[in-house]
Amino acid sequence: MKKVLGLQCIRCGKEYKLKEAGYNCLACGGNLDVAYDYNLIKKRLTWKTLDANPDRSIWRYIDILPVEDPDQIPPVHVGWTPLYKAEKLGAELGLSALYVKDDGRNPTCSLKDRASAVAVARALELEETVITAASTGNAAASLACLTGSLDMKTIIFVPRNAPAPKVAQMLVFGAHIVAVDGTYDDAFDLCIKASAEYGWYNRNTGYNPFTREGKKTCAFEICEQLEWETPDKVVVPVGDGNIISGLWKGFTDFRKLGIIDKLPQMVAVQAENSNAVKLAFESADGEIRPVGGKTIADSISVSLPRDGMAAVGALRESGGFAVTVTDAEILQAIPELARGVNVFAEPAAAASWAGLKKAVKDGLIKDGESVALVITGNGLKDIESAMKSVGKPHLIKPDMEELKKLAAELKF
Ligand SMILES: Cc1ncc(COP(=O)(O)O)c(C=O)c1O
Ligand SMILES: [Zn+2]
Repeated sequence: MKKVLGLQCIRCGKEYKLKEAGYNCLACGGNLDVAYDYNLIKKRLTWKTLDANPDRSIWRYIDILPVEDPDQIPPVHVGWTPLYKAEKLGAELGLSALYVKDDGRNPTCSLKDRASAVAVARALELEETVITAASTGNAAASLACLTGSLDMKTIIFVPRNAPAPKVAQMLVFGAHIVAVDGTYDDAFDLCIKASAEYGWYNRNTGYNPFTREGKKTCAFEICEQLEWETPDKVVVPVGDGNIISGLWKGFTDFRKLGIIDKLPQMVAVQAENSNAVKLAFESADGEIRPVGGKTIADSISVSLPRDGMAAVGALRESGGFAVTVTDAEILQAIPELARGVNVFAEPAAAASWAGLKKAVKDGLIKDGESVALVITGNGLKDIESAMKSVGKPHLIKPDMEELKKLAAELKF
């Protein structure tokens, strides 16, 4: 692949040819990053070529993705999700330029579809027949969908308490599911061991270098949808740290290609008890250390973030910062988002709004700045949590008198 120079370790800098290292760095175990020949890609990918490209999916960016053959793209439409100008929601915080990127509008209702699409395309190019992933739920649901009609066996490892709608998605698309009696971190470790033992292709977040590549397309879309204006701040919920580092990669790719000239500051939002990236970012050595990891927001419930180093790098390089929010603040954010910008978010995704509120309150984001809030997953993914944040429906008999009584009471 001419456009891809190879893989580079984000910890020690060692470079590899694409086929030389599969996942982590063979020298130090660090995560790998895909390196591109930007000078070559610059000739093909410009404002003009993008403008003329009718493809409204992540594959409009194939020139800067690690996939060679357009025939190896899985047959599911991923990406080009809406970016709303959120005037009502913004006004609540005195922000006049708030944008909400609704990535719950992907095929399995989460941003993870972007990563799965690229990982599956890569697996197809490698002629893999079995693909596996450990997941809090969304990555697995999306992997199951992307491989649903393909001749590729999909084996999933999830913590036993993964929300039922996510498990339903995996089952419907025909994946084999191993529910692990443990945490996401336990499922992750078991999945790595299993793929080494059986030779399966592994899509794990923060282990497979191609997931970050898929996720960066969300940043490309934000730039295009804002007509090449970079937002000042991009607010992202963080668990493993792969989404935030993916978005950062996207912005830096576009700058290296001369498509944008300014970079945003990245803002990480973590749950109070699942805050390993924030702690590492604020520590002198920047090292990731495990934390308790427990939060109602299952998608960001992580003890040891698997792409934590890249996430800390994104925060440091962009001059950004991290905030934490409580479970109560996350739950409260769900109806606020829905009523402020018409988007139903799952708890992890709503955390970004809770985090933005905190950042504004602490004076870290001010009016005059443009802010993009990334909503990473749809609320139907976890209705049990959503129901905790709202009241119950009013139950009456099918009777006009009863309705009139209720209408008077509620001032319909
Ligand atoms: C909806 C949602 N939001 C946020 C995240 C966090 O992404 P990352 O683990 O890459 O930090 C995930 C990951 O599972 C997710 O599914
Ligand atoms: Zn290394």
